[in-house]
Amino acid sequence: MTENNPARFRLTPGGKLTGCVRVPGDKSISHRSIMLGSLADGVTEITGFLEGEDSLSTLAAFKSMGVAIEGPDQGRVSIQGVGLRGLAAPRQALYLGNSGTSMRLMAGLLAGQVFDSLLTGDASLSGRPMKRVVEPLTRMGAHITMTEAGTAPLAIRGGMRLRGIDYALPVASAQVKSCLLLAGLYASGRTCITEPAPTRDHTERMLAGMGYPLQRDAGRVCLEGGHAMQGIAIDIPADISSAAFFLVGASIAPGSDLVLEHVGMNPTRTGVIDILTRMGADIRIGNRREVGGEPVADLHVRSTSLYGIDIPPELVPLAIDEFPALFVAAACASGRTVLTGAEELRVKESDRIQVMADGLATLGIDATATPDGMIIEGGSFGGGVIDSHGDHRIAMAFAMAALRATGTIEILDCTNVNTSFPGFVKLAGGAGLRIASNR
Ligand code: S3P
Repeated sequence: MTENNPARFRLTPGGKLTGCVRVPGDKSISHRSIMLGSLADGVTEITGFLEGEDSLSTLAAFKSMGVAIEGPDQGRVSIQGVGLRGLAAPRQALYLGNSGTSMRLMAGLLAGQVFDSLLTGDASLSGRPMKRVVEPLTRMGAHITMTEAGTAPLAIRGGMRLRGIDYALPVASAQVKSCLLLAGLYASGRTCITEPAPTRDHTERMLAGMGYPLQRDAGRVCLEGGHAMQGIAIDIPADISSAAFFLVGASIAPGSDLVLEHVGMNPTRTGVIDILTRMGADIRIGNRREVGGEPVADLHVRSTSLYGIDIPPELVPLAIDEFPALFVAAACASGRTVLTGAEELRVKESDRIQVMADGLATLGIDATATPDGMIIEGGSFGGGVIDSHGDHRIAMAFAMAALRATGTIEILDCTNVNTSFPGFVKLAGGAGLRIASNR
């Protein structure tokens, strides 16, 4: 439980999704806009910033390191960059709430500072693996201590001289890649990262947009420490990971006809569209354009019959945050859906394989958790009480299940929906989801 009286969702079965919605700003890009805007020279003006708790944790951390940040005010944030060497020592531990992205990326950035820092988080974040960043950072010359279990708090010693490394990521993780690139800004020589499969590349795009020299080849990125970057204007698109709930909801609820506006379409993030389309979904992509180095489009989705598929493992990193929603789609599909190669889901904000399998079983679906994925037989949802385990994406995924349920669904421990999707209840309710929250 995230607090004494966590939010609960109550969903009345049925309904459809219609109209036109713009979901909140992209979480990954919002984090990076604060981090890189702070380290740039000059002003960075952000629009579309996600005013969710995770990105606000990053914003608060940089404020407490002396960066002048105005906002957020309706998605607008203005940052007076302090330059690569301009951060000041924070007076206390940097508390990062539920946000794995804040902790892993900031570990790299803070490893190169002259001051010490301490990174802490909530119970979920304090259980997530940090060795994946601490180990390569240590190879770069950083000094970071964590618990024996390899988890936060992370105590980072300042004043260490970092050296660039050539590192092959053992897991396809944009957080680890970005962490090492941020440490590389402070390292002597070149830092090169090779990834086993493409992962989101927002860090690389934003660094390039700010004029930081970096070299990119297929599956590999290199940079040299010590260059400067310039503040820029950043227009953050709507988060495809938040849009995913609506793509699934509108696909499964008969009579749905929904437009999602200004959705980020970075090719390292669009696996959810590819997977749903393979399942038979009717998603039309229109008005393609580019904003500030990131592709954007409007998505028009209409309900159809879905069928089960074997999800191609190469799509997994491109849809890594969308599996809770995709499992709900699979439960509504005819036939069997099989996911493999997704063991990373076990170390997200919750164990998303087990928690989703348990919730689907509660609703009457035959779902078998496997070590690295799930086997789901399409069926029909009854009703019941679901424990989201404080995981925002689990809560929102099961909320969409109500569109095809025969009984009331109650979802527990939903407060953390605010980490990525403030205003979810209102926005989803306005589109036709029969949702109420106890607060
Ligand atoms: C993120 C990367 C992904 C994703 C997370 C955000 C990022 O994590 O699950 O929600 O912003 O870099 P991993 O890189 O650990 O897979």
